[in-house]
Amino acid sequence: MLAPTVSNGLTTLGLLAMILDTSPVIDQAQHRFLTWSVIAVWAVITMSFALRLHRMHGWTHRSRYLTSGNGLIDVVSSLSLPFGWLVTSDPNDALLFALVWSMRYIRHTAGLALFWRVMQRSRTALLSIASLFVAIFFAASTLAYIFERHSQPEAFGSIPRAMWWSVVTITTTGYGDLLPATLWGRLLAGWVMIGGVVMFALWAGIIATAFAEELQRRHFLHTWDLVATVPFFQKLGAATVADIVRLLESRDVAQGTVIVRKGDPGDAMYFLVSGEATVELAEPVKLAPGNFFGEMALLFGAPRSATVIATQPSVLLVLDVADLRELAGRRPELINLIEAEARRRSEANAQAETHAGHDRTK
Ligand code: CMP
Repeated sequence: MLAPTVSNGLTTLGLLAMILDTSPVIDQAQHRFLTWSVIAVWAVITMSFALRLHRMHGWTHRSRYLTSGNGLIDVVSSLSLPFGWLVTSDPNDALLFALVWSMRYIRHTAGLALFWRVMQRSRTALLSIASLFVAIFFAASTLAYIFERHSQPEAFGSIPRAMWWSVVTITTTGYGDLLPATLWGRLLAGWVMIGGVVMFALWAGIIATAFAEELQRRHFLHTWDLVATVPFFQKLGAATVADIVRLLESRDVAQGTVIVRKGDPGDAMYFLVSGEATVELAEPVKLAPGNFFGEMALLFGAPRSATVIATQPSVLLVLDVADLRELAGRRPELINLIEAEARRRSEANAQAETHAGHDRTK
């Protein structure tokens, strides 16, 4: 089994050799070298595939792999050159079948799963636009045939011929190889171009919205997973948790990061999901997963009362001050809990300071 970077590097080498091999400027020796390079890459790809199959236990695993996306890419990559040889019986042309190796890049692309999901979710809307495209395409081809067949029989003499003009115009590609000559033909061209622009704009809008929704959904699920591990949230009802999850941002911080600095204005509060943070007071307070901090400045409208440092690599959930205010209106039970803890901390700090003052005057 090849590591993703090795596999991608090898695929690139093989494809480059295949492309350069078609160049007329290479001499015989270079041609031989490039041909053997493509064959060598094919051999490595095929051997690593065979090895992967060999290492799998049982035919159930093997057949499951062979029918998966990755397995099919391996099968197609390994069969590419033998199949090319069989079909073309020309070794040079057989190498061109290495083109299918470009599919190998796909399997290491994390964003592809997201892309498929987006396509699946927006398929109804995309299909509606596609059917609109087909309707405009047929209508434009037929009307162009009706308007232009007498003045340009070569290009518009039949509906299939007019279809080429139609597709070039709908997609607003406009090669300019065919132009309508009649007034009605030109009017039609204008409408088809406008229809094409609108259709592609709709298409792009649908895909962009579906992407944004899917990312938001993933963010929600990821945050929900983190929130589920914080005991503080478990005390709240499901509706409150769902409400707050929407507003939280997760953040990873390295050990030693100053998360909150004493005297700074408060802009957010934090929930510690994992790791450890320390509040730098005369008597430092260690915060464990499940604790929150940074709430005092927000609730009391004062500067940060202490510096808080991550004493271990930590994961935090961040709640922005504006979101906290919004939440306070809707979920008073949540704010009451936070406020009670803020007051307790504030009193503990005041007491500690009074003690320290007494000790100094003694
Ligand atoms: P804030 O004042 O916004 O910034 C520093 C934070 O440290 C503060 O909010 C509290 O969340 C936290 N903090 C201050 N004092 C204590 C304490 N005694 N125990 C636990 N946390 C504290």
